[in-house]
Amino acid sequence: MYNRNFKIVALAVVSVFFLQTFAQNNWNVPADKKAKNSYIKFDAASAGQGEAIYNKNCASCHGNPGKGNVQKTLNPIPPDLSSIGTQSLTDGELFYILSSGRGLMPNFKSMLSDEERWKVISYIRSFNKGYVQTLSKFDPNKAKLIKVSTNYDRKTAQVKVDVKVNEKSGIVALKNAEIGLFVTRYFGKLQIQKNQLTNADGQTVFDFPKDIPGDKTGTVELVVKLNDENYGEIESSTKLQLGVPTDKPALTDKRAIWGTLAKAPFWIILLYLAGVFAFGAVLLYLIFALNKIRKSGSNKPQ
Ligand code: HEC
Repeated sequence: MYNRNFKIVALAVVSVFFLQTFAQNNWNVPADKKAKNSYIKFDAASAGQGEAIYNKNCASCHGNPGKGNVQKTLNPIPPDLSSIGTQSLTDGELFYILSSGRGLMPNFKSMLSDEERWKVISYIRSFNKGYVQTLSKFDPNKAKLIKVSTNYDRKTAQVKVDVKVNEKSGIVALKNAEIGLFVTRYFGKLQIQKNQLTNADGQTVFDFPKDIPGDKTGTVELVVKLNDENYGEIESSTKLQLGVPTDKPALTDKRAIWGTLAKAPFWIILLYLAGVFAFGAVLLYLIFALNKIRKSGSNKPQ
């Protein structure tokens, strides 16, 4: 009986292990991210700059491509990025993996800029002779041409977002751009409704809840996140008086665990002091005890 149960458990453990291994090879990159291409040309110059970034940020785990010096003590073992497995991933998948990470593979979204991440990929691709790049039309300088305006209509309780592009030919509306509306809260941003696309006039309208607390004057910081195929991702924030006036103290006004010494809660200060005293007491006791041993040793007649 015991033996049978043991076998079942062993079988379950082994299958979970296998399933996990299979699942890990699949990065499940969303289709639109998978199809993404680099706007940086993969040539000797970008690969050279990518190599420097690679040596600093990646080589400690992934080793040098093709040299077999990957960090084998990790689980899963970081793949050699010149391998067929890695090279069969699309540029978009590589960019996604670098941006979001998984387990021991860190995410580099905040450590490396978009441009730096593409340069590292340029370096990785330089180990693939058969690779042919599809360059993206996206031009990061175009983001500067965009102007987002955000307005609140008190009567309808709606926030209207209007997106214009300052093209050479004149100012035009940006249609079909994905817009997300957020409100800045203490910790992070709260999304108001789902993302929407701008219409032919470059506009979209969000119903704004009437019960969002603002500061003393009801001012709320609205953040518009725009995502467009050609113009990229843009964030713009505006302060508008559309919340419920709330007399909330700033987070650092009261004693709280994130406060500095003057603003820390008493219990944390007490706990800390108790710890320091307890440590001191043990130390004193040890010195006392050692001294006693020393004395008793030297007093003994030989
Ligand atoms: C701390 C160790 C570590 C560092 C640093 C690191 N990686 Fe990774 N990387 C991993 C591990 C572990 C995996 C496997 C993760 C998995 O399969 O869940 C991985 C997976 C990958 C993959 C997927 C490969 C494939 O064939 O599935 C790519 C691409 C990658 N890393 C690129 C990079 C790049 C580029 C850098 C530097 C900018 C980097 N990594 C830095 C540990 C690391």
